Amino acid sequence: MCGISAVIGNENVVDTLYESIRNLEYRGYDSCGLSMIRDDRIEVRKNTGGVEEVNLKEHLTAMRGCIGIAHTRWATHGKVTAANAHPHLSFDNRFSIVHNGIINNFRCLREELQDGGVTFASETDTEVLVHLIAIAYAKLGDVEEAFLSAIRRLEGSYAAAMITSVDSSRIYAVKMGSPLVLGLNQGMNFIASDFNAFLPYTKTAMVMEDGEYAVVTVDQAKLCKAVDRSEVIRDPIHIEWDPERSRKGGYSHYMLKEIFDQPHTIKSALTIPNDDILQLAKSIQGAGTTYLMGVGTTYYVALAGQYFFSRLAGRYLPAVSSDEFNDLAVIGADDLLISISQSGETYDTNTGVRHARAQHAKTAGIVNVMGSSLSMMVDQVILQGSGPEICVVSTKAALAQMVILLLVALELGRLNGKIDTQTYETYHESITDFPPLVQKILNEISGFVRNLADRTAHYKNWMFLGRGVYYPIALEAALKMKEVTYLHAEGMPAGFLKHGTLAMVDDEMISLFFLPPPARKTLHEQTLAAVEEVKARNGPVIGFCFEDDLLAKKALDHWIELPVVAEPVPPFLELIVAQLFSYFSALKLGRSIDKPRNLAKSVTVG
Ligand code: AGP
Repeated sequence: MCGISAVIGNENVVDTLYESIRNLEYRGYDSCGLSMIRDDRIEVRKNTGGVEEVNLKEHLTAMRGCIGIAHTRWATHGKVTAANAHPHLSFDNRFSIVHNGIINNFRCLREELQDGGVTFASETDTEVLVHLIAIAYAKLGDVEEAFLSAIRRLEGSYAAAMITSVDSSRIYAVKMGSPLVLGLNQGMNFIASDFNAFLPYTKTAMVMEDGEYAVVTVDQAKLCKAVDRSEVIRDPIHIEWDPERSRKGGYSHYMLKEIFDQPHTIKSALTIPNDDILQLAKSIQGAGTTYLMGVGTTYYVALAGQYFFSRLAGRYLPAVSSDEFNDLAVIGADDLLISISQSGETYDTNTGVRHARAQHAKTAGIVNVMGSSLSMMVDQVILQGSGPEICVVSTKAALAQMVILLLVALELGRLNGKIDTQTYETYHESITDFPPLVQKILNEISGFVRNLADRTAHYKNWMFLGRGVYYPIALEAALKMKEVTYLHAEGMPAGFLKHGTLAMVDDEMISLFFLPPPARKTLHEQTLAAVEEVKARNGPVIGFCFEDDLLAKKALDHWIELPVVAEPVPPFLELIVAQLFSYFSALKLGRSIDKPRNLAKSVTVG
């Protein structure tokens, strides 16, 4: 979604500002622009398209100034046009603003301003804010007071940064419901939607909370409460992320790099202190109902977790999609909500958490981005430490979240007496041995996976099928396929197929099966039965299976053979290789893999 960046320094900051919005490109956007103050005048350059494309058209990097704001816009109010791109300028050209989020009452504010004679240059909700500030300044003669009085008129969620030609030594910013962080460095300070914007320049940051505003100069960042201007004293935090990990590092796409990063992210998940895992297991044990919640990929992570808890801990934890949570979950003070999110800024998920908190339920989160809204809002947070995930499509973060849920389920199983010490230890051992194995398998199998993807990418309709825990794996793999190839890929329980969807099967609908190891006898037989159902209707069948699975190899038209691995690793391994399969299918089709059309990395609007 939209990205904000603002920089103030002792010298010309255009290159830093430009670089910072390039670092936010991964969030997804359709237009972008910069505002800088030069010789006490605000200059705005913006247009539709990617940062480099807009730079070619508008010569962004030729701008000059020691202070500037920049934005990548993902259209919500108003079409994708140059006029609607941010930054916006006030009618008197003295204030410029960038904004994320949605101003709910913008229509009545717009009418009021138009009645007062203001002419609008765009269709956006944002523009009302910059005109309100200019009008307030004309009355009050004080920038900070004018900024606040305009902010107080807004309803909705927003994060905004503003510069003014009236005082070119300060950037003003405010946060309410949309993320905003400060980056602190000697002789240069930053405001941004997330750390990635300024990570190559500083790892010292401060996270803003809702209802706060910041006044940032070259050498100071003052944080205050918007309600009464009282100053907030907060210690800066140190970001552990290595900026190198935000780079492609020789891979052709971030998606591929992040798939290959997974040995590392599994290791990071395994180094989470066992006390944190145990504490969450105890919270589940002591709670009435524990809900698992996420949306998109993280909903499928929650669904996989549901299977881990049922099988390993004998506890049924309903998994609910965040966007449906408020309508569906019956949650009260005895209950626990575990939310899962890579960004920690997903509107639907954070809304679900707020709802649970309003019902006095306990809340926990498994989150990748430290300092994110979700990580700050929940009673207990597990930071997964997967490092920056840049590709819009989630791979490594999702896998790490599944591993963490597995660890918690194992811990709960031990507490409940549902699993014995030996099973607990064997499972731990095989998951600990998994990272080097992933590395090896990925290296060995990539060529074969690419070859199969090349041969099957012409199919327009796909069915992804699995049973048991392989069902959420199939759902997640299908979502990957949809996101990066734009093909129709439907994930479904293999047993569900014959209850209707089988009618769609013909020689143009290809089915991809996620087979469990033959040792999971019943599950294996049931999955193979579905393979036969498809074959009997002339449907092409391909699948993931293990080396020792002679029956699957007889039944499938083509298969990706995986080395035999011990439980609980098989479903994780199939997911990783399925991610690779989607990647190569998209490569064959020439798709925009890291930034698929219509998608944004973190969906911060409802
Ligand atoms: C994943 O590939 C998707 N881009 C999307 O479904 C994502 O998982 C979802 O929007 C949740 O995001 P979050 O993990 O940042 O909360």
